[in-house]
Formats: sequence, C-alpha cells, structure tokens
Amino acid sequence: KHVNGLVIAIDGPSGSGKSSTARGVARRLGLAYLDTGAMYRAITWLALHEGIDPVDTDAIAALAADAELEIDDDSTATVFRINGHDVTAAIREPRISENVSRIATNLRVRDILVADQQRRITEARASGGIVVEGRDITTVVAPESEVRVLLVADPEARIARREAELAGAADTAAVTDQVVRRDRDDSTVAAFTEAAEGVTVVDSTHMGLDEVIDRICTMADPASIPL
Ligand code: DC
Repeated sequence: KHVNGLVIAIDGPSGSGKSSTARGVARRLGLAYLDTGAMYRAITWLALHEGIDPVDTDAIAALAADAELEIDDDSTATVFRINGHDVTAAIREPRISENVSRIATNLRVRDILVADQQRRITEARASGGIVVEGRDITTVVAPESEVRVLLVADPEARIARREAELAGAADTAAVTDQVVRRDRDDSTVAAFTEAAEGVTVVDSTHMGLDEVIDRICTMADPASIPL
C-alpha cells in the first residue's frame, strides 16, 4: 500500500463509462488522472502515420520501444504527444478505434507501456493521488491500489453510449460490431470481463454518471485523499 498516497484503479470494457467516470473521480478528489487506453491509441496513431502495418508485431514493438510519449495533464484535459506530434484529438478518430486492438494485443507493446511507463507514472503520482483507467490496471499495472473497481454495463447500454458519443456518425450495426469485436479481441490479453479477487464490480447500466462517481469516491479512505 502507498503510505500517504492514493491510487484508484478502474478497469472495464468500452462504453462502460470508464473515461468519464475516471476523469470525474479525479476532478472531484483533486487527483491526477491517467488514461492508459490513450497510450495504446497514440502508438496506433504513430504506426498509421509511419505506414507500419499493425499486424507486423516486430515492427510495431520496435516502434513502441523508441516512441517518445509525453502526457501533459491538468485538471480539465490531457494533452498527448508522440514523437513531438500533438495527437490529443486524432487518437479518438474511428480509424484509431478500428486498429487499436491490434496494437493492444501485441504483448511486447504491453510490456513496454506497462513496465516502462504506466507503473512509473502511477508510482510517481501516488503520493498526490492518481486515478488510473484501462483494462488491466486492477490486475497488472497497479494491483496494490487502494481502490480497485471493475466498471461494467450491459452490452445494450454500452452500445447506446458509444452511439451517442459518435453523434450519428455511425449506425447501430457498425457501433455494435465495433464494441463487441473490440471487447472480444481485447479480452484475449487482459482479463477485464471478470473481477479479480478484491476488485469491486460497479454496474453502471442503470446509474447516472454522478452516481457512479459518488460511489467510487466513497470507496476511498478519506484520510488518504490529499488536501
Ligand atoms: O479505453 P480505450 O477505448 O481508449 O482503449 C483503447 C484500446 O486499448 C482498447 O482496444 C483496449 C486497449 N487497452 C488495453 O488493452 N489495456 C489498457 N490498460 C487500456 C486499453
């Protein structure tokens, strides 16, 4: 456990409300925030930018090993830069969502991001408090976290949320395929479909965002919340 620190780890499938929840918890408690999915997205952006085939696992691993990823977080937004390119907006584009599982299922890429970056950032920020969000935070990146949550929601709810996010840019069939296929691909490398021991499942299907944020905030020991 982190003395005088607080790490809140939140895992879950796409559309579970993870990012809005994690950001909301961080803002409410005045903690730092790390979106690990964005890191896989940034590597995906770089691969497409450099014209490297996402299925070429060796080339992708080499790319990830040499990539310079900068994450600038203030309480309202995070700016992601990779090899000097600001990719904050670009990493949310559909072409990234469509390719990111290929990068995230590359075990060497996971090793590089988890061991070299995600654990280092989490440890460096633990004393001031940090919320870390992804698929393997409660199990691999920071299993010792004080608060460990698996955020789930029924597939219908997740598909509806993704559709709302995309604001009519894709039809239901396409979104369904994307959500379902991505979860199936991603779950081959990270066991986020079931809670590990000690991880609290929060089902957001019938909960509003504020309610989910409240629930997670009450799980943190008040004495561990930095002033
Ligand atoms: O949460 P997201 O949609 O931004 O995640 C992008 C991709 O990265 C998604 O396909 C799952 C993967 N991912 C992962 O494998 N491990 C993490 N800790 C975070 C994300």
